Amino acid sequence: KRPEPGPTQCVGPDYRSESQKPIATVSTAVKFENVVTLPQTPQLIALLTMIRDKNTERADFIFYSNRIIRLLVEEGLNHLPVMEHTVTTPVGRTYAGLMFQGKICGVSIMRAGEAMEQGLRDCCRSVRIGKILIQRDEETSKPKLFYDKLPEDIAERWVLLLDPMFATGGSAIMAVDVLKSRGVPEERILFLNLIASPEGIKNFAIKFHKVRVVTAFVDQGLDEKNYIIPGLGDFGDRFYTM
Ligand code: PRP
Ligand code: URA
Repeated sequence: KRPEPGPTQCVGPDYRSESQKPIATVSTAVKFENVVTLPQTPQLIALLTMIRDKNTERADFIFYSNRIIRLLVEEGLNHLPVMEHTVTTPVGRTYAGLMFQGKICGVSIMRAGEAMEQGLRDCCRSVRIGKILIQRDEETSKPKLFYDKLPEDIAERWVLLLDPMFATGGSAIMAVDVLKSRGVPEERILFLNLIASPEGIKNFAIKFHKVRVVTAFVDQGLDEKNYIIPGLGDFGDRFYTM
């Protein structure tokens, strides 16, 4: 089967000439300022290749997804506010550094988004985590909201919204509407996501100019069932049940 068309690039360390680097499909460029794509490094592309492969078994799918989630969380944290913080080192010298400013919480869109919670906990000890249960209707692809449980003081926090798949954008849009209805301003929401479609990003960015999106990869598009292509199939099934 022919690979899905997509932008290709020589990927590899800078000390290699272009002709020595393998060619791989890289993320599609998007023009929205509030959308950040992770650097298309050999490591990221190799990890994504593992989880896209239909022959990758569940244990490996979980392991390699977790590695990408860690990269996303680390990049997401770069978008939180910091303030100056000077410390004295054991040799009596000062170091002019930084510290994080402001309270955060995670909010996962269940079920697949829960797979990203551990990655957030690994970086932010004791982080509070809220949940929003949204399920896409299998026939219409429209999202349906079933449940939410969020920290009482969420309106005062920065929110890291977690969902690995961003297809039509319907679920993410619904989740942001819930957060906004609880008083969280758009500029304090950061949506972390593994694979996005250009359609989902456009639908979302047109509605929310100030919510920042950090994604590992923007794919080619959607198929007739609104699955991301080339994508990786159903993330929740592959992570939890297959
Ligand atoms: C998946 C995924 C997103 C949504 C993306 O969840 O985790 O929440 O679909 O699609 P959209 O952008 O078109 O809304 P799904 O509803 O299939 O549930 P799951 O997490 O239980 O797999
Ligand atoms: N949900 C998934 O898990 N995968 C897709 O491609 C689209 C929605």
